[in-house]
Formats: sequence, structure tokens, C-alpha cells
Amino acid sequence: MSARPAGNYGIDAPGVPWGWGGCAVVFAIAAIVVSVLGSALWLPIYFTVLAVIAAIGTFFYLRSTLVGKFEVWRGVIAALRLRGDEEALDLGCGHASVSVLLAEQLPTGHVTGIDLWRSVDQSRNSVQAAQRNARANDVDARITFDTGDMTSLPYADASFDLVTASLAIHNIRSAQARRTAVLEAVRVLRPGGRLAIVDIEKVREYDATVREAGLTVAENRGLGWRMWWTGPWFPTRLLIATKPEQ
Ligand SMILES: C[S@@+](CC[C@H](N)C(=O)[O-])C[C@H]1O[C@@H](n2cnc3c(N)ncnc32)[C@H](O)[C@@H]1O
Repeated sequence: MSARPAGNYGIDAPGVPWGWGGCAVVFAIAAIVVSVLGSALWLPIYFTVLAVIAAIGTFFYLRSTLVGKFEVWRGVIAALRLRGDEEALDLGCGHASVSVLLAEQLPTGHVTGIDLWRSVDQSRNSVQAAQRNARANDVDARITFDTGDMTSLPYADASFDLVTASLAIHNIRSAQARRTAVLEAVRVLRPGGRLAIVDIEKVREYDATVREAGLTVAENRGLGWRMWWTGPWFPTRLLIATKPEQ
């Protein structure tokens, strides 16, 4: 079985693979041109090496966004050992990649996905695209999609057993607003509820915020090559924290 559910999930930050792929083509052309012009041997070798690095980076990026993200999240969700009746909230759900994987594991539960549907963060992003993916996987009855900002969640305190955020919080520019988003996630969690954040940067910042809010950090670790965004210099981390029972 493929890790990727049925449907179309777009490309995360589509400008990045276009940039890296474009560089691969430009460097390859430069290598050909300088060798045809009979330049010193090191110059075509130099451009060829750059072209290969850019092509490998493009490959890793596309693999991460199209396949790796789903492989990793399937493992993260399995390790959460859900009962199956939880209420989950997926922050910055985009095309519902994580919402769909969660709903598959919650036969008597429910998933709410919230997003601003920004195409700069994920190509062809829209609530309709998310709904199509939920339908394609026959989990649409267990997912609700809302349009909203994760820094100001339209939900009551202690409404969810699980809050997830996949590659979403780093898209918020200011550190203060990212902190607000994490505190909002904590606010809507029930006592004993869990927060699972997967992100490419700022995880140390989220870790400090959840500890400050009184949560216990169960995991803060790298997720390996499956979520290398061009290469090992751009890895992804997982943070899992639990809200205390009261
Ligand atoms: C890189 S995409 C990841 C989407 C999805 N979580 C996934 O892993 O496929 C980041 C998402 O965060 C959303 N987003 C960015 N800022 C947001 C905010 N302040 N509130 C809600 N969603 C936001 C974007 O619209 C986009 O859908």
C-alpha cells in the first residue's frame, strides 16, 4: 500500500523546487556551453557538480512533499496509539494530508482542519481541494474544514484530544505570532491531550513555549531523510507534548 492516500495534495512551498530545478537546468546548460567554447577543464566540471547537487536537491524536495511526508506522518500517528474516538484538530491542514491520515484512524472520532489556504505555502490550496481529498478517501463524514487563522482559533478551551500541525507554524512570520499559535493550540487541548508538531524550523522555539505553558515534552527529534527539504542541511523535526491532567 502506498503511504500517500488517494487524491491530490499539492506541493509544499512550490517556489522552492522550481528554484532548485531551474538552477539544475541552468547549471547543466552552462556546463555544456563552456565546454563547447573550449574553456579550461575545471569550469565545465564546476558547473556539472552544481547541476548534480541542484538536481539531487530537487529530487529530495519532491520526494519529501509527495511521499516522505505521508510515510513519516503514518508512523507518527501509529505511535500515538489513538483509541479511535478522539476529537482532533489539524492546524494549517492545507490539502488535508494529515487530516485524512488521522480520520482513517478515528472511526468514531472527528477531525477539524483549519487553514487560510495560502497557495504560496502549498500549491493549488483551497478548502475545495481538501474536501475532495476527504471524499476520495471516504472519510469526509468525519472531517470538517474551517477557514481561519491558527493564531486566533475559533474553538472553545479544552475542545480537542489531539492537535497536529504539519509544516504549518513556521509559515507565520513573527516569533510573537508563532508563540500565540502554539499557545492557542495548548488552549484548545483538553487536559491529558497531546500536541504533535512536525516542522522544518523553529521547533526549539515551540518546545520552549509548550514547556512554559506547563506541558510535558515527550519527544523532540529529527525525522530523517524522508523529510529532507533538498538535503540534510534542511531537515524536519517532531515535537510531541502532553497537557497535564487536572
Ligand atoms: C506547507 S503547507 C502544509 C499543509 C499541510 N499541513 C501538510 O502538511 O500538507 C502550510 C499550510 O499552513 C497554512 N497556513 C499558513 N499560515 C496560517 C495561519 N496563520 N493560519 C492557518 N493556516 C495557515 C497554509 O495556508 C498552508 O496550507
